[in-house]
Amino acid sequence: MIFMLPVKEIEEFVKENVTDTLITHDFSHFKRVSIGARWFVTVLKGTKEEETLAYIAGLLHDCVRPDTEKICHAVASTEKARKILNNFNIEPESIERIAQAIRDHRKPVKWTSPLHQSVYLADKLMEQMGHYIAFRRCVFVGECSDYVGRPFESSIENQFDYRINKFDFTKFPSVFHSMAKEMLKPSIGFHAGFKKREQWAIYLARFCYEKGREGQTAMERIIMDFQPDSEESETYKKEAIEYIKGRKFDYFKKLVNQSKRIGE
Ligand SMILES: [Fe+2]
Ligand SMILES: [Fe+2]
Repeated sequence: MIFMLPVKEIEEFVKENVTDTLITHDFSHFKRVSIGARWFVTVLKGTKEEETLAYIAGLLHDCVRPDTEKICHAVASTEKARKILNNFNIEPESIERIAQAIRDHRKPVKWTSPLHQSVYLADKLMEQMGHYIAFRRCVFVGECSDYVGRPFESSIENQFDYRINKFDFTKFPSVFHSMAKEMLKPSIGFHAGFKKREQWAIYLARFCYEKGREGQTAMERIIMDFQPDSEESETYKKEAIEYIKGRKFDYFKKLVNQSKRIGE
């Protein structure tokens, strides 16, 4: 049954048609969340079918993504995803399992399966983490209508404060605690530098924020185009590229094994 799921066709459809989203929520974000969600199902010992359904859920999880946090895009994306998937050859039961993972990708609920929590885990522990988030979050502040008319410095600070304070590693399965703690460190480091008005952090934030406001350049391109001015920003760029190129999975696996050892 699993081999009959039209994954490639859905991926092509999303790439071609789901384009009215934000720079920070473009196809490259969908694709990384898909790969991440599938990886989390594997680590949590889900089935092969769940791995594939998680991949599809990742592709569609932000198919509706307005430039404001005031609307729940998870609910809107779930509805649209159902409509999209009805055009493909997938069983209604599988569509509902995908829809459940999309609907609950914003905050933790009582999880019913590895698939159910996979998109949430990929979105929070990979896409909102690491060195990459220093770039992505500053672009987001630039393109988010909630920050229009507000000063650059306090907008960046508010967004990082909000996200970092909200982050609670205990909300994740214990096997991901080391990963959650390690992956949070770069955003804390960046934010601390920004609050102290260190040149490298201001420079990186300003570059990304302006790109977000312009809304013309793809997220991965923004990182590639960024010209580091210091050792710190050089490290942030290098590590962010490692992540977007998918070269961090050995590191993630190491952190998972670390948590397993601690749990023993
Ligand atoms: Fe989302
Ligand atoms: Fe997302």
